[in-house]
Amino acid sequence: MNPPVVIQQQFVRLLAIAMANNNLYSPQHPQVIQQRNAARALHETLLGERHAVRLMVVNQQLVIDDIPQNSGLHQQRLVKAMTRCGVSHIELKRHLEDAELGSLIAWLAAGDTFGLPVSPHIRLGCVTVCYHQAGEVEPSPAVAAQQQENLRQLQQNYSADELERFAEIYSAAAKQRQLNMAGLAQIVSCFIDAMHYHADPLLALAPLRKIDDYTFVHSTNVCLLNIAQARSLGIEGAALHDIGLAALLHDVGKLFVSSEILNKPDKLDDEEWKQMQQHPQRGAIFLLKQSGVPRLSVITAFEHHLGFDQRGYPTLPAPWQQSLSSQLTAISDVFDALRTSRAYRQALEVEKIREIFRDMAGKQLHPGLTENFLTLLDEPGSDMQTPSQG
Ligand SMILES: [Fe+2]
Ligand SMILES: [Fe+2]
Repeated sequence: MNPPVVIQQQFVRLLAIAMANNNLYSPQHPQVIQQRNAARALHETLLGERHAVRLMVVNQQLVIDDIPQNSGLHQQRLVKAMTRCGVSHIELKRHLEDAELGSLIAWLAAGDTFGLPVSPHIRLGCVTVCYHQAGEVEPSPAVAAQQQENLRQLQQNYSADELERFAEIYSAAAKQRQLNMAGLAQIVSCFIDAMHYHADPLLALAPLRKIDDYTFVHSTNVCLLNIAQARSLGIEGAALHDIGLAALLHDVGKLFVSSEILNKPDKLDDEEWKQMQQHPQRGAIFLLKQSGVPRLSVITAFEHHLGFDQRGYPTLPAPWQQSLSSQLTAISDVFDALRTSRAYRQALEVEKIREIFRDMAGKQLHPGLTENFLTLLDEPGSDMQTPSQG
């Protein structure tokens, strides 16, 4: 048997026993403290070089760092506790403190949907509200409302955290001209997880606006919007991941456009506009040189301004058809640009954007996909009614 699996099993066993003892005794009972310390030591071992150990519940099965666990008593206890608390994954980061682990264990043991443990080294995600299997008991309206609020907080924290990591990768790419593909892939996976069960996939966008740099905030939003669109079309798994990643990288060519042009408050002159229009090719060429970049990212970077009617840029020989990923990205791209306040214009109201989209459908944007996107905006509880500052 693989040694990490044995350590993972011991880790789960200790967590499950600490949960049980937490309920039987108190968090300060020597036995609970001892189990917690042992669990923390195993956490260190499991971490190795990584920044976090990740526990997930997938189809009622516990998965630790992508390794599915057998369904023994302890594993089942942890799955039940996580499900009861409404979380489907827990990230335990490096430097996890004793008190943090203690409050997580107490929280899981209590099966509490209220009072999420807030901690810099623990991240919770994917509350499975709004999603009831046949035969499950519906929560009361008060509990459902609290779960929604918990979810909102979780998504906000989650997005800000991912954004920070993306900012690091982005600035490293700008300086060293090299992409951390593993890091980017992980960010996309986190976004997909965070949005997986929720009825309002656009909720996570607003908090990201606090960061200044337009291009990477924009890329993050386009990624989230692409995931929302693709999922609404029934796309899941690796294809969904690739479409999200392509969106994250669609404007990477702007790393090669001067910041004076990118941030110019006035209209661009001819020469500047010509340089700006080079970002799709430059992005595609850059991505082709990086290892581990899916071809769909290269194609999307190249085609996202082409337009459904192919009257955009770059100029390509007919008949050239934009890939689905490029068409989805074009919709997300236009939406996010219009929704953001820029030096030369205010953010537009969603109703105004709706009008613009109807006009663009069949021209720059694919008509059917545009209609689908407008339907997504109508989702109950959508956070898209108030434009944000960019
Ligand atoms: Fe672009
Ligand atoms: Fe863009």
